Amino acid sequence: MAMGSSRLLLLISPLLIQCYLTIAQPHPLYSVCSEGGNFTSNSTYKTNLDHLLTSLASDSDINYGFYNSSFGENNDQANAIALCRGDTKLVACTACVKNAHQVLRQRCPNQKEAIIWYDDCMLRYSDRNIFGNSESRPYFWMYNLNNISKVDQFSQALNALLTNLTRIASSGDSRLKFAFGNSTTTSKDTIYALVQCTPDLSKLQCSNCMNDTIQLIPKCCTGRQGGRVYTPSCQFRYEKDIFYDPAAVSSPQPSAAKSVPPPGPVGSTPTSPAPTSTSGISGRGSNIFVTFGTFFILIYGLRRLQT
Ligand SMILES: *[C@@H]1O[C@H](CO)[C@@H](O)[C@H](O)[C@H]1NC(C)=O
Ligand SMILES: *[C@@H]1O[C@H](CO)[C@@H](O)[C@H](O)[C@H]1NC(C)=O
Ligand SMILES: *[C@@H]1O[C@H](CO)[C@@H](O)[C@H](O)[C@H]1NC(C)=O
Ligand SMILES: *[C@@H]1O[C@H](CO)[C@@H](O)[C@H](O)[C@H]1NC(C)=O
Ligand SMILES: *[C@@H]1O[C@H](CO)[C@@H](O)[C@H](O)[C@H]1NC(C)=O
Ligand SMILES: *[C@@H]1O[C@H](CO)[C@@H](O)[C@H](O)[C@H]1NC(C)=O
Ligand SMILES: *[C@@H]1O[C@H](CO)[C@@H](O)[C@H](O)[C@H]1NC(C)=O
Repeated sequence: MAMGSSRLLLLISPLLIQCYLTIAQPHPLYSVCSEGGNFTSNSTYKTNLDHLLTSLASDSDINYGFYNSSFGENNDQANAIALCRGDTKLVACTACVKNAHQVLRQRCPNQKEAIIWYDDCMLRYSDRNIFGNSESRPYFWMYNLNNISKVDQFSQALNALLTNLTRIASSGDSRLKFAFGNSTTTSKDTIYALVQCTPDLSKLQCSNCMNDTIQLIPKCCTGRQGGRVYTPSCQFRYEKDIFYDPAAVSSPQPSAAKSVPPPGPVGSTPTSPAPTSTSGISGRGSNIFVTFGTFFILIYGLRRLQT
């Protein structure tokens, strides 16, 4: 279901207006309903999916911002993955996933497989096994409408930064594969970036997924001062202005946080407790639009989910 950019513009402009007018609900970046199969309202699959998604956003289950679970058996088994961005605090993470659940069921009322992305979280479900598989489709990208002047210097520093961050994120454990950091270009611009994989991926799967994703930069984002690519299994984002919360982790549980920060010159996943002050998730969404003084635009259609 590739969408023309004009249709996307129609779709995006009310969204931008709403970002200014309401800061109550976060807005989805994109969603896809798979054409692979439908369920009926009296089916066992629906019952299983409802049960699974209802239990999904419970605070205890979503620790570390990652949730993967199944309910039911055989062909009626529902499988779901939720992933919060690594710097999203637990409260915002839970709220994002709960909202994603509602919105995705509205958007895809009878599809067995569907996915939705927000700034703060991603939610997907399927009747097939989706755990431990690296999936790079469907994907989409967004870019910052502002341009940079020293394109070559910027691209060079960006590539080095993303390569380093990929190395760090892919070395994460089965709870969190996330890294962020900054780099200064030879022309003195600073680049801020983050990369993240679903932590059920192996180290190699994560680094391959990121590699494939980073290779889309020339198509989507070169020359722009910000860009992002989202796939079901991994994602990255970079900007000239800081857009992440360096002090936050997705699920600060000091007693359980045994993971050692991976070595590396760029900031890796912090394990310290997050401060309690927070800008709301939707507030942060609109901050991006307002403080960066620009608009992000979604320009690429999506490949159908493969089943
Ligand atoms: C599934 O349902 C959608 C509408 O929700 C419909 O457009 C589509 O054709 C259906 N697919 C199949 C295979 O029945
Ligand atoms: C579910 O409802 C459909 C009609 O909507 C019916 O054909 C089917 O037999 C029902 N299935 C079950 C398991 O009740
Ligand atoms: C950025 O560059 C693109 C393509 O080179 C151009 O179409 C666009 O107008 C530029 N944007 C700004 C804000 O200068
Ligand atoms: C990447 O890491 C290497 C060594 O690990 C370091 O020398 C380099 O400065 C880092 N580059 C960036 C952009 O972080
Ligand atoms: C969820 O992912 C973790 C690894 O991140 C894995 O240990 C666990 O078995 C997975 N759960 C399911 C139901 O596959
Ligand atoms: C990722 O890409 C870099 C450079 O493009 C390459 O050196 C590295 O081996 C790749 N990693 C994987 C796992 O393919
Ligand atoms: C860039 O990252 C380093 C950690 O590698 C951190 O100490 C520094 O404060 C960051 N710079 C900015 C401007 O955020």
